[in-house]
Amino acid sequence: MRTTQVELAPSLLAADFSAFGDAARRCLAAGCTWLHIDVMDGHFVPNLTFGAPLVKALRNREPDAILDVHLMVSEPDKWVGPFRDAGADALTIHAEATVHLHRVLQQIRASGALCGVAINPATPVSILEHVGDLLDIVLVMTVNPGFGGQKFIPAAAEKVGQLARWREANGLDFRISVDGGVDASNIQSLVRNGASILVAGSSVFGHADGIVGGVDALTKALEP
Ligand code: DX5
Ligand code: ZN
Repeated sequence: MRTTQVELAPSLLAADFSAFGDAARRCLAAGCTWLHIDVMDGHFVPNLTFGAPLVKALRNREPDAILDVHLMVSEPDKWVGPFRDAGADALTIHAEATVHLHRVLQQIRASGALCGVAINPATPVSILEHVGDLLDIVLVMTVNPGFGGQKFIPAAAEKVGQLARWREANGLDFRISVDGGVDASNIQSLVRNGASILVAGSSVFGHADGIVGGVDALTKALEP
């Protein structure tokens, strides 16, 4: 039985962009160490968000935070260097975004960042069959990527358990992250099935009692 520390990774996509640095600091003050940064290119996904300068600004302001950068971009090989240089600790690319998945994962590993791969709701776990030894994080999308605030897709979450079983059967060592519609109603079963990084946007930043209220509610929902 694995006993990996569970991390709540607030997705800054749901933060107030006019007070971005403050939002990040509040998450850290609320007890989070991971911050999830959603990079969208208007091509791989139908939305546009941040570039490497934002990661650099957060890095300078919060030297101890784990910056978890989710690259929802086409041609991810072009962006590994700039985002790593900006200070990303973890780089997660999409398996669907490149025909050279193995090569880009090697590139991330060589950069020194934690190496992550994300799979969309329609993408099977089997796409990772031959790259398991390169992975530090597998991110299971439980919404279609591109927007915050969407409804959780239970069928996509079934891949969390599949991944955990594959990991055990093959002696692999990656962490399972879940992203999209994570809230107090589903977080406990995600962790029970093997997830240890929980990305949460709306349920943190949209909570009636603010960021601390959101983090507390999710932490509480994790208690047995
Ligand atoms: C969606 C992003 C998510 C998103 C999650 O493409 O990858 O990180 O911000 O937001 P919620 O938690 O609101 O679904
Ligand atoms: Zn994300």
